[in-house]
Amino acid sequence: MTFDVHRVRAVYPALSDGYAYLDGAAGTQVPAAVIEAIADAYRSGLGNVGGTFPASGRSGSLVAECRQALADLTGGSPDGVILGPNMTTLTYRLADTLSRRWEPGDEVVVSRLDHDANIRPWVQAAARRGAVVRWAEVDISTTELPSAQYRELVSERTRLVAVTAASNVVGTRPDVAAIAAAAHAVGALVYVDGVHATPHVPVDAGALGADFYATSAYKWSGPHIGTVVAEPALLETLHPDKLAPAPESGPGRFERGTAAFADLAGVTAAVEHLASLDPTATGSRRQRVLASMAAVEEYETRLFARLLDGLGAMEHVTRYGRAARRAPTAFFTVAGHSPRQIAAHLASRRVNVWNGDNYAWELAGVLGLRDSGGAVRAGLVHYNDEADVDRLLAAVGELA
Ligand SMILES: Cc1ncc(COP(=O)(O)O)c(C=O)c1O
Repeated sequence: MTFDVHRVRAVYPALSDGYAYLDGAAGTQVPAAVIEAIADAYRSGLGNVGGTFPASGRSGSLVAECRQALADLTGGSPDGVILGPNMTTLTYRLADTLSRRWEPGDEVVVSRLDHDANIRPWVQAAARRGAVVRWAEVDISTTELPSAQYRELVSERTRLVAVTAASNVVGTRPDVAAIAAAAHAVGALVYVDGVHATPHVPVDAGALGADFYATSAYKWSGPHIGTVVAEPALLETLHPDKLAPAPESGPGRFERGTAAFADLAGVTAAVEHLASLDPTATGSRRQRVLASMAAVEEYETRLFARLLDGLGAMEHVTRYGRAARRAPTAFFTVAGHSPRQIAAHLASRRVNVWNGDNYAWELAGVLGLRDSGGAVRAGLVHYNDEADVDRLLAAVGELA
């Protein structure tokens, strides 16, 4: 199928402001249908859940529909969908809960490729329990996270392996299934950070071997809501701190307080939007999501080649990120200019990018970028087009 980016861009009101939004890795714009879904939820009248009147029922429906939508997006089950404000908050919550079962001398494995949100909660929980942290290292020459090292990193003491499905700076997509297989072979659980991968590829949490799959809707055209998807039976074995009258079973035990009901309507609309990106796709929403995300991956890969080739042709640019399988995210520096200066110059040319370590704190350290202001990150999502890329390249070219 030909990906019709003009049709896609037309449904994003914010894109009409004339900027090239290459900051999607830090949060995307939202389509009109998402804005409308949130506004409609408020317009229709909402109440807290569990009541006897229709507005309360509407909120309950929004929660149920959102769980189903996230299950369709990730290949999970709605009863295993935990909702929350963002991935970081939920990961701290899961780290707190899971680590209660850890004994001194137990082990957890984290990786230097990950965003700090999938490192520090585990490192801090391990410190509290006297558990040992083992580090999976990035091969700097390739920016790969070799999966073979996990066979040595895990042992019968390993309780958890935390790994990203895609780096939020260099884009590397590790072989999560192989890593998960090594973890499962010793009986460890696998916590996958899908925040950066989800907007770019079809997701099947089960095929990845993810016992927990975390993602945030604001990275894929939705509102600021995070989720962790797990097997319902696994969740039942966990006992998070909760208020006495809060539910005794189900994902609701992990969701503290009152949910952002209207935003959940926006999450459902965002999944619908993703499912619609291949208008020729048919079948269930799950099938349409998979077909659409395959089309997105193909489109973004082509556009990313244009971006990488353009940057690669400039002698004053150093690119980081060389993995064979990667999300369409470029990380680069420009000789003679700090990353902040480059980002400011690009902003003056109406190009939005990020600068810094982008919380890939460990990776910035091993790349030698942590003390020099990190690098510039330009990330593509499905609404970016060749004009966005060419504007970036022209503006970077001016810095020679
Ligand atoms: C790969 C990755 N993981 C985790 C996070 C944290 O997500 P949240 O903002 O939902 O806490 C981010 C945010 O940028 C990210 O890119």
